[in-house]
Amino acid sequence: MRFDQQVAIVTGAQTGIGRAIAERLASEGAAVVLADVNDAQPVAETIRASGARALAVRTDVANEASVVAMVEQTVQAFGRVDILVNNAAIAATIELRPFEQITATEWQRMQNVNAMGPFLCTRAVAPHMRQQQHGRIVNITSGTAFKGAPFMLDYVASKGALMTMTRALARELGKDFITVNAVSPGYTLSEGNLANQDFLATYREAAIQTRSVPRDGWPADIVGAVAFLASADAAFVSGQILAVDGGSVYH
Ligand SMILES: NC(=O)c1ccc[n+]([C@@H]2O[C@H](COP(=O)([O-])OP(=O)(O)OC[C@H]3O[C@@H](n4cnc5c(N)ncnc54)[C@H](O)[C@@H]3O)[C@@H](O)[C@H]2O)c1
Repeated sequence: MRFDQQVAIVTGAQTGIGRAIAERLASEGAAVVLADVNDAQPVAETIRASGARALAVRTDVANEASVVAMVEQTVQAFGRVDILVNNAAIAATIELRPFEQITATEWQRMQNVNAMGPFLCTRAVAPHMRQQQHGRIVNITSGTAFKGAPFMLDYVASKGALMTMTRALARELGKDFITVNAVSPGYTLSEGNLANQDFLATYREAAIQTRSVPRDGWPADIVGAVAFLASADAAFVSGQILAVDGGSVYH
């Protein structure tokens, strides 16, 4: 029970990788807040049924007031915030397209959710973590930013931003014993990705060919790295980007 008495916020925890992360942190003792723009109540109920504490809070991470309210609700319900996992993103719903076909409005929304969202969430939890002199922030980035994957330029740019934010925030928050790291998944068969036929056809086999461990990746493959970075064992690890992709990119 590594996270006994600790409180974790996982954004985008209604499905996929975020849900798997929330379930893992809860199974190791954390009270979890599932902050998702969609209804995560069923996930919270499943977690509560396992004996852990969980709260679903409807949140748009790109909306400042919504994020502030979510963190207030977290502190009201559980008294503190130890862990923030910035997982929410426009991800599995992406339509692959040449960059010329991406509109300025789509570009803006992508950056707002995938890069500004983690900024807003980090800013909202920072005072609580500073007061506690303890915090773990884990950003979920993407191997596409290392590889320069084509046909999703707005997404790749947003994940590149999140990688550099990880390093700069680690420098700003470290003196208060708050670590900031990132996990960079490779192509992972989340429920959303399994439903996206375009992604499956383009990436599933192609991703396997690039891997040292040549098999599919699943949400369950990602959660151990996140739990490690959120744990006491990672107290002296900060500003790092850990690729969890079957050994596809070395950086
Ligand atoms: N699955 C992959 O192949 C893969 C690869 C690399 C990185 N990632 C990253 O891992 C994370 C999860 O991936 P996934 O495949 O589970 O994604 P997904 O698209 O299936 O799930 C994303 C979740 O975020 C939520 N969300 C979207 N916009 C939101 C907003 N504005 N506010 C709050 N919640 C919002 C969605 O409702 C959903 O629950 C994402 O950050 C993604 O970029 C995924």
